[in-house]
Amino acid sequence: MIRKLDDLELHGKTVFVRVDFNVPIDQGTIVETHRIDSALPTIYSALKRAKKIVIASHLGRPDGKVVSKYSLGPVREYLAVALNQPVTLAPDCVGAEVERIVHNEIDRIVLLENLRFHKEEERNDPTFSHALASLATVYVNDAFGAAHRAHASIAGMAGFFSEKAAGLLLQKELDYLSPILTNPKKPFLTILGGAKVTDKIGVIRNLLPKLDALLIGGGMAYTFLRAQGIEVGKSLVELDKIDLAADLLKEAANLGVRVLLPTDHITGDIEKKNPETAGNAIPPERMGLDIGPKTASLFADEIGKAKMVLWNGPVGLFEVPPYDRGSRVLASALADHYPGVVSIIAGGDTVAAVSAAGVEAKISHLSTGGGATLEFLEGKELPGIKALEMTQ
Ligand code: 3PG
Ligand code: MG
Repeated sequence: MIRKLDDLELHGKTVFVRVDFNVPIDQGTIVETHRIDSALPTIYSALKRAKKIVIASHLGRPDGKVVSKYSLGPVREYLAVALNQPVTLAPDCVGAEVERIVHNEIDRIVLLENLRFHKEEERNDPTFSHALASLATVYVNDAFGAAHRAHASIAGMAGFFSEKAAGLLLQKELDYLSPILTNPKKPFLTILGGAKVTDKIGVIRNLLPKLDALLIGGGMAYTFLRAQGIEVGKSLVELDKIDLAADLLKEAANLGVRVLLPTDHITGDIEKKNPETAGNAIPPERMGLDIGPKTASLFADEIGKAKMVLWNGPVGLFEVPPYDRGSRVLASALADHYPGVVSIIAGGDTVAAVSAAGVEAKISHLSTGGGATLEFLEGKELPGIKALEMTQ
């Protein structure tokens, strides 16, 4: 059993809120705030009732060292504006100075400095977990995006609390993602894109028995096309995954799942310039960089026939126009059929593609998880969720 934030008695207490504020930052400016914005409801809810909240996150991969570009300073600034309240950035996440700030009567919202400045975080070190836990009496995990990491602030420290719960974002992620595995609305369609087949094998295997159709685009599509003997020119192909792609296609056929691969393409030259449309086969000197217009409208029609769509991975090189067109068409199709089609978007690039199309408001759920969502959909138990289970 996992408790919900609303079930906790927070009055007069200090609450530790683990969030995933691992956002892209370019020269001190936060490029994408979706993850921070998504955790605000939990922070508001805790603030309404608690005496004090201690917010903690990792940022980037500083490998156990203090690396100034991975400071949570820019996040503090953003948070203070979003909450319209002072937010204090502690100089570290453990130690005497941090304890002093956490125990004083002045700073009500304390943001700890990057947890990964200590190597003990990723090692799930018990002493470090205990030091973090000693800062508060209640533990809330809202870091869905990091729930697949068995780190101190996600796994280890939860064991020190009898009062712990899932935050509103973590709960919402589970509310949208769990039915995909247990009881998806039918017809259920999955769109997979992105560069590599490797990253998606586990998800494909786990979802195939639940799917009505699988639509494949992006770089990974070319490995599947090669597995069918189709010429793909200079397109990205994982040579060591061609046999596996063929096996997956066979598995799908045995299960009666329709798999739709691109039947036309937008190609570029080796410098990814001079876009042209190609039919089924891609000429030898050209790279496939997006699904073609026929494929895009075919995929859009499929979206219109579905009741639930999971989409992970852009279907083209969406950050370089015009190779964003296919992903835009799919995003618009999802929006056109909202709310009749429940749409779940997973992965930072896919969320960015949907945002670029300007249709976020007509998408059911933009997941804050990349790796975490994939592992969840692979059917793995996530350490961050397991750690919230109440044993008594
Ligand atoms: C993510 O962005 O994938 C999560 O925040 C976890 O970060 P990590 O992949 O560096 O562990
Ligand atoms: Mg990751």
